Amino acid sequence: MSEQPRDSSAPALFTWEFATDPYPAYAWLREHAPVHRTTLPSGVDAWLVTRYADARKALADPRLSKNPQRHSAAAHAKGKVGIPGERRAELMTHLLNIDPPDHTRLRRLVSKAFTPRRVAAFAPRVQVLTDRLIDTFEERGEADLIHEFAFPLPIYAICDLLGVPREDQDDFRDWAGTMIRHGGGPRGGVARAVKRIRAYLAELIHRKRLELAERRDGRAEEGEGQGERPAAGERSGEGDGEDLISGLIRASDHGEHLTENEAAAMAFILLFAGFETTVNLIGNGVYALLRHPEQRALLQRAVEEGDEGLLAAGVEELLRYDGPVEIATWRFATEPVTLAGQRIAEGEPVLVVLAAADRDPERFGAPDVLDLTRRDNQHLGYGHGIHYCLGAPLARLEAQTAIGTLLRRLPGLRLGADPEDLRWRGGLIMRGLRTLPVTWNSA
Ligand code: HEM
Repeated sequence: MSEQPRDSSAPALFTWEFATDPYPAYAWLREHAPVHRTTLPSGVDAWLVTRYADARKALADPRLSKNPQRHSAAAHAKGKVGIPGERRAELMTHLLNIDPPDHTRLRRLVSKAFTPRRVAAFAPRVQVLTDRLIDTFEERGEADLIHEFAFPLPIYAICDLLGVPREDQDDFRDWAGTMIRHGGGPRGGVARAVKRIRAYLAELIHRKRLELAERRDGRAEEGEGQGERPAAGERSGEGDGEDLISGLIRASDHGEHLTENEAAAMAFILLFAGFETTVNLIGNGVYALLRHPEQRALLQRAVEEGDEGLLAAGVEELLRYDGPVEIATWRFATEPVTLAGQRIAEGEPVLVVLAAADRDPERFGAPDVLDLTRRDNQHLGYGHGIHYCLGAPLARLEAQTAIGTLLRRLPGLRLGADPEDLRWRGGLIMRGLRTLPVTWNSA
């Protein structure tokens, strides 16, 4: 590892206090050690990049590879990077682990299927899912917003969008629960859950490929006749060839298609890149609003008056202020790189701390203030450069629908616990509340 003097006054990272409130530690790092060498809980040494300007540069630097094979051999061989037991598996050959030209090819193919238009057409379905979840607890006057709302909404939404049949979606809920509880670690059956998902997706993709082929043949025989379609809010896309998995199978670019393995890896990353992130955006976002009554009142009024503009801008600010992704996923130097005067040697891991960059006073006025009306809010919550979040339109749709509908339907919403008693789940990449007890006056 390249040399950097260890500073004994550096704050402790990855502790319980840090998970509860990492922002004072990030302020220290930005000021005193903007490119900082640390030992991660896994034992791997890595560089943390905390200033906004450096973070943006690092995210777009082609010398920083996403491919874990580029990690300096020693730690890599010990299997400390990635999902244990799945390192060489086909599922891991996904967008977040590859570089151009493979990344360019796969991203272009998936972008043909996962279009902003497809997401916009999905809005009525997200509204139905949101309302149904609120229906289950509205009368009760209290709920845990993580378990009963923020957790199930994204999993059902992405399952519907992908075309996972409804009767199988609770299995996904269980598998996702295992993964979120154990943060991708080796305990608690994560490897088993990943294996089940892989087998399930492979089977589903194979079946859909056959269905598409049959439908194509059938259409060739019968002409293009289409039956009556159910209302958009009730449609899951399942079985009618309109779902995202079918779109992935059909997508082609210069005659090239995704292989079944590539389609499975893509479906896997869409499920899991889009799941815990969205849970935490809704959870952290609602919590921030409940801790800032003036901002909440402003948004409540806007929602009641149908001001979609403030809802959209407000969700972006919630993402900047306390976003779900603390740290962008791994990058590895493919050659010696100097960043903010610090030399990073070939093969060394670099972690861009999005949550620190988004509170940088050099970029944002009063960065520690939640201001839903903030202008020029170019936060890095969805990353930057070629790996910019592919699911951002879906994440925005889900978070805006979830938060807007909660405020509209439960206007008396308040925190049901002392903030001191709330526990945070702080992994290396993600940060979010374990539970969010809330109350309101039921009708
Ligand atoms: C990439 C954040 C929701 C799919 C990323 C990255 C970030 C991010 C920071 C870049 C990581 C890096 O450069 O290392 C978020 C946040 C979300 C969210 C904050 C919700 C609030 C979603 C959803 C989906 C999704 C809903 C899909 C259903 C992806 C994919 C990539 C990605 C496929 C990889 C893109 C690539 O490498 O080209 N996301 N994400 N994300 N996200 Fe999201």
